[in-house]
Amino acid sequence: MSKLNQLPHITLILLLLYSSSLPLLVSSAKCHKDDKKALLKLKAGFGNPIDLPWTSDVACCAWYGVICNSITGRVLNIDISSVNLSGTISPAIGDLPMLSEIHIQYAPFLTGSIPYSITKLPLTKLTIRFTALSGPIPAFLGELKDLTDIDLSGNLLTGPIPEPVASLPKLDRLTLFGNKLTGTIPPSLFRGQTRGDLLYLSDNLLTGEIPRSVGDADVAYIYLAGNRFTGDASFLFEGQKNTFEIDLSRNRFEMNMSSLSFTHSLNKLDLSNNRIYGSIPESVATLEGLNTFNVSFNRLCGRIPIGGNMNLFDRYCYTHNKCLCGSPLPSCSA
Ligand SMILES: *[C@@H]1O[C@H](CO)[C@@H](O)[C@H](O)[C@H]1NC(C)=O
Ligand SMILES: *[C@@H]1O[C@H](CO)[C@@H](O)[C@H](O)[C@H]1NC(C)=O
Ligand SMILES: *[C@@H]1O[C@H](CO)[C@@H](O)[C@H](O)[C@H]1NC(C)=O
Repeated sequence: MSKLNQLPHITLILLLLYSSSLPLLVSSAKCHKDDKKALLKLKAGFGNPIDLPWTSDVACCAWYGVICNSITGRVLNIDISSVNLSGTISPAIGDLPMLSEIHIQYAPFLTGSIPYSITKLPLTKLTIRFTALSGPIPAFLGELKDLTDIDLSGNLLTGPIPEPVASLPKLDRLTLFGNKLTGTIPPSLFRGQTRGDLLYLSDNLLTGEIPRSVGDADVAYIYLAGNRFTGDASFLFEGQKNTFEIDLSRNRFEMNMSSLSFTHSLNKLDLSNNRIYGSIPESVATLEGLNTFNVSFNRLCGRIPIGGNMNLFDRYCYTHNKCLCGSPLPSCSA
């Protein structure tokens, strides 16, 4: 055979080899048998819900909500949303040695607590939200040193935010809104971070002052509404910050608004329902991205700044203060 004739031949062989290696990859991605065993125990713990179709006739890496490494067939992520899970999270979840993300949400009949066995996992993200999970946030989550993102919102959690959790070295998103948490924010929160991304603690029963570490971490989104926080949180606005949204409403913050300086990145500022005094600084009217502004139900006084985006905000954003005046409120006398 001439060389020219051989060439297409080789290409064909290569093609055949390549295409036959594809099914090989897929079959090796069938799911590790130990992981399959752990997933079935997890499903049993969830009360074998009929809307969780984890059945042996399908390779478990193809199951709903299961993401595997396609080479090793080991489970990397679990992401289950709006499945009627009941029962509890089985300790068998700790037997998925490569599991790095857990996302379980909208399962109002899921009860119990987070099993200690998850401390064996290389977890980076933990989401268990809008379930009936109860009891305290376990301090052992502080053993998961690679965690960057914790979301336990909309559960029935009680007790404090554990110090070992707050001081996780890589944590930059902490979402715990809509629980019944008590106590103060640990002063170590986000301490290791140059930039925190999200702190969302609204609608709990948290008390005390916001720790300085939250200001130092320059958190992009801060939602602390509907707690019992006190003190002067003006340091959240000091220095070169890059905050986009900040909601401190429905607390007991006491600070002088006159001396606050606002970062130009600010889109949302809600200080309503606190004990904030002084006046509204003129600099508010220079914030180009500001689209939400509410200082109602405080103790503010003086003329409301005009210009910039200030015409976006109606009188309900200023109502119930000591002596604010000027548009959109009645004009200042003399
Ligand atoms: C979900 O599960 C709970 C507990 O097993 C059951 O009482 C409820 O009726 C289920 N809801 C739906 C919509 O299937
Ligand atoms: C608030 O701060 C302003 C400016 O720093 C100051 O003039 C004012 O007296 C302060 N108000 C109160 C009640 O401390
Ligand atoms: C401002 O806050 C008050 C009190 O929390 C609320 O009633 C009002 O609806 C808010 N206004 C806007 C425009 O969000």
